[in-house]
Amino acid sequence: MPLNHVERLPFGHPLQGMEEAYADPSSGYEPPAAILVEPIQAEGGVNVADAEWLKAIRKFAKDRGALFILDDIQAGCGRTGSYFSFDGMDLDPDIITLAKGIGGFGTPLAMNLNKPEFDKHWSPGEHTGTFRGQGISFIAGMVAMDYFKDDAFMADVRRKGDIMESRLKKMARPGMEVRGKGMMQGLDTKDGAFAKKVVAECFNKGLLLGGCGSEGRVAKLIPPLTIDDADLNEGLDIMEAAMQAVLVPA
Ligand SMILES: Cc1ncc(COP(=O)(O)O)c(C=O)c1O
Repeated sequence: MPLNHVERLPFGHPLQGMEEAYADPSSGYEPPAAILVEPIQAEGGVNVADAEWLKAIRKFAKDRGALFILDDIQAGCGRTGSYFSFDGMDLDPDIITLAKGIGGFGTPLAMNLNKPEFDKHWSPGEHTGTFRGQGISFIAGMVAMDYFKDDAFMADVRRKGDIMESRLKKMARPGMEVRGKGMMQGLDTKDGAFAKKVVAECFNKGLLLGGCGSEGRVAKLIPPLTIDDADLNEGLDIMEAAMQAVLVPA
């Protein structure tokens, strides 16, 4: 499908105007084939979608025969303290996209979970290509599934997520905002140039942070889910010192 057939809307966009446009047969709008949304917008600035908004999108899609696709590529696979970032929201997506964590330890793997009625019924091995999956990711991804046999690992992710959130809230200066869920947390500094300096200072001290959101103003923390408390706190110490160094240069 050509990308110019995709209409992009801001995260959290109200559906009201769209509902009116689609209800009018002369509006020129044709029902979409699918609506795709990230339950937690990661690169867009760690924006956590409101469950009611997601439910409204789901209803909007289903009412028009459009597929409802949730992109959990970055927030899924346990990142937020449950396997899917939208668990417990009663969303019933038609397709879920997964990647990143699905490979277990960082080598490439991606996967779509389709409802059976939308499956193309390919036979095993029929969808082939040069880069279609690699053995080590399949094995590592399969072993990683063992972490989800009970809730112990997810409880630990939620506990470490709480540490991250509370430490970021202490670091945040007036006007800044901490957003996220589980072990995906972002500090919205509201200032791209400032965030860039913090990210660079962290890098110089051995900590990799991603700048995301408008003008890179959100410092995004997505440490390995298996990180121990000492390493997690060391990373947060580096970030805290970097914020201080940028605010009050020596
Ligand atoms: C949530 C999400 N969806 C999609 C993508 C893009 O995936 P790809 O690089 O395979 O196009 C990313 C990449 O960071 C992502 O974080």
